[in-house]
Amino acid sequence: MGHEASPLLPEKLPKVDTTIFTVMSVMAAKYDAINLGQGFPDYPMSAKLINRVKKALDAGHNQYLPMAGYFPLRNEIANKVADAYQATCDPHTEITITPGGSYAIFTAISVLVEPGDEVIIFDPAYDLYEPAITLHQGKTIRIQCAFPAYQIDWSQVKQAITANTKAIIINNPHNPTGQLLSTDDLEKFEAITNNTNISIISDEVYEHLVYDGKCHHSILERPHLYSRAFVCFSFGKTFNCTGWKVGYCIAPESYTAAFRKIHQFNAFCVNSPMQVALAEHLADGNDEYQQLSDLLQEKRDYLRNQLSQTPLKCLPSHSTYFELYSFQRVSTATEIALAERLVKECGVAVIPVSEFYKNPVDNKVLRFCFAKQTTTLSEAANRLKQFKW
Ligand SMILES: Cc1ncc(COP(=O)(O)O)c(C=O)c1O
Repeated sequence: MGHEASPLLPEKLPKVDTTIFTVMSVMAAKYDAINLGQGFPDYPMSAKLINRVKKALDAGHNQYLPMAGYFPLRNEIANKVADAYQATCDPHTEITITPGGSYAIFTAISVLVEPGDEVIIFDPAYDLYEPAITLHQGKTIRIQCAFPAYQIDWSQVKQAITANTKAIIINNPHNPTGQLLSTDDLEKFEAITNNTNISIISDEVYEHLVYDGKCHHSILERPHLYSRAFVCFSFGKTFNCTGWKVGYCIAPESYTAAFRKIHQFNAFCVNSPMQVALAEHLADGNDEYQQLSDLLQEKRDYLRNQLSQTPLKCLPSHSTYFELYSFQRVSTATEIALAERLVKECGVAVIPVSEFYKNPVDNKVLRFCFAKQTTTLSEAANRLKQFKW
């Protein structure tokens, strides 16, 4: 059947194309490549938690839950952050369950950004932040973290602050670099923003994926910063179930009230069986996420060791699902060109780090996801060892 021409739509995101994650995943499927591009585990999640979802479905938890989230789950989250960060958060007024961490970040941006507002983010940056700011007619101010350590230069942040600065978005632990903010970083951040009205969005979805005996410091540990913050988390990363898209936002009471005003007209609430299962899982003292670091560190070290037998050079990091590798000593290709060659000719999909910048900076670095079974990592490494760079 023929279709009539559709009316033209407003172009709200003229500079946005399909994300590199989708592009590389499609290419990985087309060329039958091992996908070390997109950040998701290929190993099974907890069977116990799956059984809890089944039980919740059978028990009839299939209708709407409260807009702010299933209360027992919010209560368990309050206990969890008290344990992890010595933070006291009221589950009634400060915790909201969301359909994933991204939704929490997007909603926080919706709350804060008005036309002309400036929001500071740090390059390389997760791809969601700028489009969400643009949709609310804000202006994104990007500050580059210095290569190759990717540290934030706080004096640059201080200089970038203007009367229009509405918010600063931090991502800690950081995707794609795997870097962590230190106590010193957070002290500097606090010193710069104290006595201002600048809000903070803290993307902490990788909170439990931290290695080498390092520690994640949450904004929840710092009352001054928390008093102006939306702190966003994801159960997808915590329980190896990225496809569930369940997360939460913790924010002071007035911020949470503003957050829920928008959330109630968007998702309104999050799927019930998952929330019921997660609440029961946490209440059961189930802290398998505490063992995540050991599991993931083993995988990271395995891949490091294997890739040390290739011309790639590791840029060491301490967190997330990702590690960066430089190919500078072996190829003058652009990151994107080499990533395309690797999918097509080597059968391994990875992500060019230049894609995390607004104006691509080509440091000859690729992002590898190591949240994979050893057999997957081993096969990818074997292919890379044989590749003719
Ligand atoms: C830095 C960062 N923030 C947020 C998210 C989104 O989390 P969720 O899948 O829970 O929406 C991701 C997912 O990859 C991420 O890497």
